[in-house]
Amino acid sequence: MKQPVFVANWKMNHGPSEAEKFVSRFLSKYKAHTDRTVVIVPPAASLSTVVSALGRRKDIMVGVQNIHTEAKGAFTGETSAEMARDAGAKLALVGHSERRHVFGETDEATAIKCARAFENGLTPLLCVGETIQQRDRGEAESVVLRQLRAGMANLKDSQPRGIVVAYEPVWAIGTGRTATPADADAMHEAIRAELTKMIGVKKDATKIPILYGGSVTAENVRSLLEVGHVDGVLVGGASIDPNKWNAICST
Ligand code: 13P
Repeated sequence: MKQPVFVANWKMNHGPSEAEKFVSRFLSKYKAHTDRTVVIVPPAASLSTVVSALGRRKDIMVGVQNIHTEAKGAFTGETSAEMARDAGAKLALVGHSERRHVFGETDEATAIKCARAFENGLTPLLCVGETIQQRDRGEAESVVLRQLRAGMANLKDSQPRGIVVAYEPVWAIGTGRTATPADADAMHEAIRAELTKMIGVKKDATKIPILYGGSVTAENVRSLLEVGHVDGVLVGGASIDPNKWNAICST
């Protein structure tokens, strides 16, 4: 039985006042389920507000959208892994396509951030995905697997087993164009095979959740979760509306 994982990436939406309203509306609809994991990833400014608004709802976790490569210092505007953890985050997005393509984040930086996350007790959610040009050139799988290997390059001992992966094709993010369940399944299978190679123990690699992201909605989430290698979803636009997010998590 799959235990699906639902992650809401609010991106730069919902400051503290709106975040508080969102949580109260969402909690009035979403009843705790023991057969799934729900994570809300607000902007850093709303992290503490979301944690306190969730109160005793320990069935819902909170994450941070980005952490800095360094532990502390003169990095104006940045958030360290330790600060995020202190504010109540349990998970950190690493290598999101907007970080890579808008802010120029490199594979080397994602590798440092994944390791920093572990050092500070956060689960890294490593995001990988190809652009439309790379897909059209037939490079989708090689790009995705390279990003996966590079992001995990600095992990040691049992850390690779504790990671979460999200496949988010860049061309599907915010475009209304979702990968077909079959395309998502094929890429997830390739990611799983690579994880098995890296970790060496199939049983452990099988436990790593591989999420799909890119124009996921309440209408298409079920068909994506039904395919064998999709363990959950990472949702942007449809996660900022409490009704839509409840419909997705209650699937
Ligand atoms: P959309 O769901 O808006 O396409 O965004 C996906 C995403 O980037 C989640 O991290």
